[in-house]
Amino acid sequence: MVITGASSGIGLAAAVELARRGDDLVLLGRDPGRLQRAVQAVREVGGSSPAAYRADFAVLDEVREVGAKIAADRERIHVLVNNAGQLASVRRLTVDGFDPTMQTNHLAGFLLTHLLLDRLRAAAGAEGPARVITTGSAAEAWGTLDVRRPGRRQFSRWLAYGASKQANLLFTVEAARRWSTYRIVPTCFFPGLIRSRFGRRSPVFSLAGLVPVLFRTPAEGAGTLVWLAREPRGLVPGGYFAWQRPFVATGRSTSAERARLLWESSLAAVRYGAEGERSVRGVG
Ligand SMILES: NC(=O)c1ccc[n+]([C@@H]2O[C@H](COP(=O)([O-])OP(=O)(O)OC[C@H]3O[C@@H](n4cnc5c(N)ncnc54)[C@H](OP(=O)(O)O)[C@@H]3O)[C@@H](O)[C@H]2O)c1
Repeated sequence: MVITGASSGIGLAAAVELARRGDDLVLLGRDPGRLQRAVQAVREVGGSSPAAYRADFAVLDEVREVGAKIAADRERIHVLVNNAGQLASVRRLTVDGFDPTMQTNHLAGFLLTHLLLDRLRAAAGAEGPARVITTGSAAEAWGTLDVRRPGRRQFSRWLAYGASKQANLLFTVEAARRWSTYRIVPTCFFPGLIRSRFGRRSPVFSLAGLVPVLFRTPAEGAGTLVWLAREPRGLVPGGYFAWQRPFVATGRSTSAERARLLWESSLAAVRYGAEGERSVRGVG
């Protein structure tokens, strides 16, 4: 099981719980110190050291590199959790020329999933489908996503964040349409409002944090993720969940036409399909 954003918050809590249940984990994080501490936390409950890889998703070359490394190290991946996310300032674009929130929360995971697609296909079989789980948010409701230019400059970090969470849902919808014949089940979930490192530089989010009743723990936020990763049957491909039940999203985040357009423009944005960037073939 590969988990991005495993060095903190919801991803770390999920990794600890999955390790407790005996799953073999691959952790991704950006900050080396937090990633190392996550490895220790997982080792303490799981008994063995998980594989760990560092990459900054704000740099697509780092995503390409880490995707190639994981594909070289693993023949099969049963579950990929696209959980890494942030709420970044809109002042600077990434080195790739995109809004940093959209790149980290959508484009990087989109690219990583393509780079690992063959490993997911290799894992889907008699034991059940492979899964791609994406951490979404109710913030999708206010996203201003231009599906033809997903990485374009945004004017407020919260609008950028909402747009990225729309993209997470649309990715799930289109992945389900394209990959169901591969026995890959993509799902997306809303973890609730969670007390983590997320939004710590946002006055709005920090102030909300002063009202303890609004927030849950990362372990509570990880509950639906763990359930989606392990629930053996009956998951609807393309489904959206919260609190281990189906959840409702806005039409803009579930439109088949917008999902198709976003997929095409995301492929172009991450230059997937350019020479040398197809996932490694011939395994499984
Ligand atoms: N907290 C909430 O209330 C809430 C609500 C709805 C949805 N979510 C979503 O839940 C997911 C996890 O957030 P969280 O609450 O657990 O926050 P968190 O504690 O800040 O964890 C975020 C994780 O994402 C990683 N990450 C952030 N920017 C990255 C980058 N540029 N490159 C690579 N990794 C990066 C972080 O890595 P490092 O630690 O190594 O920097 C960390 O592991 C996000 O997708 C977020 O949008 C959160």
